[in-house]
Amino acid sequence: MSTFKPKGPIAETQLDLFMLTVWVTGFIFLVVGGVYVYAVIKFRERPNDDRPMPSQGHGNPLIEIGLIGASVLLLVIIAVPTLQAIWFTHDTPDEVESRMGNWYTGEGLVEEEADNPLIVKVIGYQWWWAFEYPQLGITTANEMVIPAGKVVHLELRSVDVIHSFWLPKIAGKVDLIPGRTNSMWIQAGDNFSVWKEKQGLEGDTSELRASYASYLEDEIHDYYYGQCAEYCGDSHARMLFRATVVDDNEFAEWVADEKAGHKPPQEDSWAEWYALYDENPDQLTGDLNEGLKLFMGRAKCATCHVVEGNPRALGVAGPTLTNIGSRMSLAAGWLNHRTEDGNIDVEQQYENFFKWIKETDVVKPGNLMWKANGGGIGELTDADGEPALLTDDEVHKISLYLQSLK
Ligand code: CUA
Repeated sequence: MSTFKPKGPIAETQLDLFMLTVWVTGFIFLVVGGVYVYAVIKFRERPNDDRPMPSQGHGNPLIEIGLIGASVLLLVIIAVPTLQAIWFTHDTPDEVESRMGNWYTGEGLVEEEADNPLIVKVIGYQWWWAFEYPQLGITTANEMVIPAGKVVHLELRSVDVIHSFWLPKIAGKVDLIPGRTNSMWIQAGDNFSVWKEKQGLEGDTSELRASYASYLEDEIHDYYYGQCAEYCGDSHARMLFRATVVDDNEFAEWVADEKAGHKPPQEDSWAEWYALYDENPDQLTGDLNEGLKLFMGRAKCATCHVVEGNPRALGVAGPTLTNIGSRMSLAAGWLNHRTEDGNIDVEQQYENFFKWIKETDVVKPGNLMWKANGGGIGELTDADGEPALLTDDEVHKISLYLQSLK
């Protein structure tokens, strides 16, 4: 999460500004500290010192005006680039190559959006993130996916308290404030012309394009760590998120995958599955079916979570679980199951699901999951209406079902 390894124009601008401020304040520190040390050594009292009191400079107009002038000058040196950076990072640029119509290779883009950059609505909840892609009609949670080298416009909102979006290597921080929409833009990696300029190259040949593409692939395609940067309650420290930066085709594939949604474990259609679920649930057998029955019923998962495709999993209080089995982490980035080479450690993933569902308050204190011991959005009960925790076997089956959502 280092801000000293910027991977895009916004983070670079912010690092430059930081370094400028470090130089200016370092200079002030050396000058003031140097004068101070000099005065302390030269004018310190020695044994048997009978030198008179040194002359006092207080009120000397030359010194007073000189110091004020120097302070103003130093502030101006910081202020001008600061204002430039504020404008630069605030106004989403209209780059031709970032217009959706010029790079998005998938389906589902309406014509009016072809001239706009990709828009992502970032919505903060205690303690997780929703990422909506309104132009593409998809929503994901806690792990956003963005294309490399393209401008992405972010709209930031909160449904409860103030959060702050911080993706250190790419950009940050902008607050998500209830009742208003903030905006910012991000870009992972340079665009083609900035990249050429930095390399001292000119022209637009297929060779240049190819080496630009390999720059993006080698240096920018990655899995980036983000964090909520504004204290927002019990589990603020556990409100993480991720950004996966991919190429244009991978992005289109990801969108298609999100849109496709999920089918029931065995039946051909949800209508068939629900016909059995409503009339003869005992005929739905196997761990995945058992897990899904718990998901819809006893464990109450569907009251708060969406699973794309499933017509009765439409809850909006919690993050969407569409393709949750493909995500590299759980509980807003707190439980990780990504291996170093970028794959999912399936055993670790199962353990994480199990732990998260079984001990949800240990993993993320104060969260709103259904519980049987107070707190949360409601009380889990058994068939007789008595408060009852999920058993290990029930947690096991729900974990397997969720793992299959990929
Ligand atoms: Cu959200 Cu801190």
